[in-house]
Amino acid sequence: TPLVVMASGTGSLLESLIARADAADAPFRIAAIVVDRTCRAQDIAQRNDIPLITCRLGDHPDRAAWDRALTDAVAAVDPGWIVTAGFMKILGPAFLGRFGGRIVNSHPALLPAFPGAHGVPDALEYGVKVTGATVHLVDEGVDTGPILAQQVVTVADDDTVETLHERIKTVERVLLADVVTALVTRGVVIDGRKARIP
Ligand code: GRF
Repeated sequence: TPLVVMASGTGSLLESLIARADAADAPFRIAAIVVDRTCRAQDIAQRNDIPLITCRLGDHPDRAAWDRALTDAVAAVDPGWIVTAGFMKILGPAFLGRFGGRIVNSHPALLPAFPGAHGVPDALEYGVKVTGATVHLVDEGVDTGPILAQQVVTVADDDTVETLHERIKTVERVLLADVVTALVTRGVVIDGRKARIP
């Protein structure tokens, strides 16, 4: 199954998906990488000889035009599934209308706790003793789609945002690849707010 992976950051989750796709019996391949800005994920695409799509909001007159351009660019790849792995833009109605139900996101907190772009510092600031990783389907909200998998990560007393986030990412890199593998081989059953992989 061809995947599109969307990133805006250091791309370490992307790298874990590439490694999994490179395995002999891998049920998916990374058909294209999408970024919305200059970032390390672009270098990862070049190094791995994977087609790169750069779709910057600033290159378009408004968000709706960006949404349409992004939708057309990804539609041309015709992916089975789309994975957002540190993609720092909210996907628009055109994109969700076209690919809704086939977009998977990884979030570095135990949703519904600590949604949004600062889930790790918010959890640390709140003083929770455990946090974790959530893999979920993307819907029109921010980190509100049906949850597919979660894994707990303990917060250490001396944790900083960096040490905690890296420990969560270590979990995400495996959890996301495992869930994507399950989705492409077994699909997903959605029942209202709930999602289950048969
Ligand atoms: C991950 O923690 C992901 O959950 C969050 O952004 C981070 C991306 O990390 N949305 P990287 O850029 O893949 O290293």
